[in-house]
Amino acid sequence: MNEKVETIKKELENSLKKVNDMKSLNDVRVEYLGKKGKVTELSTHMKDLDNNQKKEFGKILNNLRKSVENSLESLKVKIEEEELNKRLEAESIDVTLPGNKLHVGSIHPLNKIIKEVEDLFISMGYDVAEGPEIETDLYNFELLNLPAGHPARDAQDSFYINDELLLRSQTSPVQIRTMLANKEKTPIRIICPGKVYRKDNDDATHSHEFHQIEGLVVDKDISMNHLKGTLEAMAHHLFGEDVQIRFRPSYFPFTEPSFEVDLTCFKCEGKGCSMCKGTGWIEVLGAGMVHPQVLKNCGYDPEKYTGFAFGVGVERIAMLKYEISDIRDFYTNNTKFLEQFNKFESGEENESK
Ligand code: DAH
Repeated sequence: MNEKVETIKKELENSLKKVNDMKSLNDVRVEYLGKKGKVTELSTHMKDLDNNQKKEFGKILNNLRKSVENSLESLKVKIEEEELNKRLEAESIDVTLPGNKLHVGSIHPLNKIIKEVEDLFISMGYDVAEGPEIETDLYNFELLNLPAGHPARDAQDSFYINDELLLRSQTSPVQIRTMLANKEKTPIRIICPGKVYRKDNDDATHSHEFHQIEGLVVDKDISMNHLKGTLEAMAHHLFGEDVQIRFRPSYFPFTEPSFEVDLTCFKCEGKGCSMCKGTGWIEVLGAGMVHPQVLKNCGYDPEKYTGFAFGVGVERIAMLKYEISDIRDFYTNNTKFLEQFNKFESGEENESK
């Protein structure tokens, strides 16, 4: 019996030498381990043996089966590897074929402006604050020195939800929220970008929904100089180092004094062109020193603390910077329009600054 086993092992060795692909490997598997295979065949001799021999022979058979399986398995791994290598060699890539163009999105121009402004102010130690878009009349108007019936409320015809709640018409209520949350803790240095809503009829320059970035600083000894320096830094960051700013007296109920802030026209550099309507200046934002009453409303003693605030329209900045003539372009999700801003993503623009 042992001889038979040895013969089978030898025969197997020879058969395996001839194997060169999966098919011939399988044939060998069937020849030895199949139902009528050589190894299976051997086990039919069991019945002729006595118990002791059966035990002995069982072991031998088992070992034989295992060794055949092992040999087949290692050969299988080898063949698979060879076949894979052959396939890889055959599948060389033609790098000259035209590729499929991937449709890559771009950061929305409004988000781009917001991010640029955030980056600057974060670098100057400001926090980025948030407030709800559904706001109370108290925070949106009352505590900002705009009591019911105040004429300046008309300029911000608002979407009221009920007597007390409205869609915020400005980001200024975040000033109130921040001061109330800090309870005379200073310094306060925040900006707050966000959406605001007004009952405007949509046209090329008006939208019932738009974005503002609010700024607020409160501390001891904050002066107009700080305000001017800060706004200058923002103007330079957004429009380049050559831009100059000027303050024009204006009126906002929550600041005193209040200003409208102009930049020298960055298209004609102040000479006068169609963009600045021949004046050389472009109005970009509102600002001022926080009104003592507003400080008081929020628990800050105006004898001890002063502050400045500003509010800038993001659409306005984006329209000026990218020379966009219709505000509705920001909201219609026309990919042809949005794709233009990919080029601003590549860093070309920042490097040239
Ligand atoms: N909230 C004002 C508006 O929507 C903009 C503004 C002006 C904000 C002056 C300010 C400020 O913080 O000081 O028209």
